[in-house]
Amino acid sequence: MEFKTLETVKQSALKEIEGISGEKSLETWRIKYLGRKSDLNKILRSLKTLPDNKKREIGFQANNLKKELEKLFAQKNQTLKTGRHRETSFDVSIPGRKISLGHLHPLTKTEQKIREIFLSMGFSIVCGPEIETEYYNFDALNIPPDHPARDLWNTFWLRQSEFKNQKPKTENQKLLLRTHTSPVQIRYMEEHHPPFQIIVPGRVFRYEATDVSHEINFYQVEGLMVGKDVSLVNFKFIVEEFFKKLFGSKIQLRFRPSYFPFVEPGLEVDIKLATSDKRQATRWLEIMGAGMVHPKVFEAVHYNPRDWQGFAFGLGLERLAMIQYNIPDIRLFYSSDLRFIKQF
Ligand code: PHE
Repeated sequence: MEFKTLETVKQSALKEIEGISGEKSLETWRIKYLGRKSDLNKILRSLKTLPDNKKREIGFQANNLKKELEKLFAQKNQTLKTGRHRETSFDVSIPGRKISLGHLHPLTKTEQKIREIFLSMGFSIVCGPEIETEYYNFDALNIPPDHPARDLWNTFWLRQSEFKNQKPKTENQKLLLRTHTSPVQIRYMEEHHPPFQIIVPGRVFRYEATDVSHEINFYQVEGLMVGKDVSLVNFKFIVEEFFKKLFGSKIQLRFRPSYFPFVEPGLEVDIKLATSDKRQATRWLEIMGAGMVHPKVFEAVHYNPRDWQGFAFGLGLERLAMIQYNIPDIRLFYSSDLRFIKQF
């Protein structure tokens, strides 16, 4: 019988076990080098046929090798087991991975808050079209074609052909992107009888150069309250309540006379926030245009101005969100820059 020498067995066993990385291949290795049919076992079994002196010498070496291989096997087995153990267990002290959730745009949040406040004060929420006619955007609001006040609203005019299915109310059906939410005052009054109180959140457009406080499209919230004896006192109370609910009771308000063709008297409202930021604390911010609805506007919707009176206001949504979240540039809202959006 031919046997591999103990040395060859040892060398190849050592070499092979090094590359083993799984329990299955380790078992194959064990059968090959320590199993019943292994060369080592054959050598051990053949000892009895050897002369006495050889028997002792080779027997000694073979048994040593057997012990050595068994030890190697045990060690490798251990390493593989502890390795697997490490993979499947986890370290509870490692900080978890953050799951990033989507969320509402800061403008949407501000708008929702505004809706909530006005709903709680008994207002209804109304919408109107972004594509308007010259009549609703201007004429019915007491701004005839040659009125210099039209310059206040730089307008995006649209091609006439895109406006086929709207019933003409007057001659003035030229199409435009609404420059304010005030046309919805007219649309609402044409279809409802007072008393009522509504707000109209919506997108508006102006053909202007952009800068930190101007965008070509932005959002307004229009307000309109009409009744038998609705006065500026009611307006003042509602507006104060609104700002207190939005910014807290420390807010200061200032009412300044102003001009808009569709109100008389017209005014503008400034607010001053109580903050620890010195720059803001000393600054008044213009936040809304307002006034008592002009008799001409009531006439346009066939209300008798002797029977009804009311106030209207229009506030800029971005302005409010900029104050609320301390945002320095209006253009950031529409930049689609996630680094900006994700902060809110
Ligand atoms: N529509 C005006 C604007 O866009 C704001 C306003 C609304 C003023 C209602 C008075 C009354 O500037």
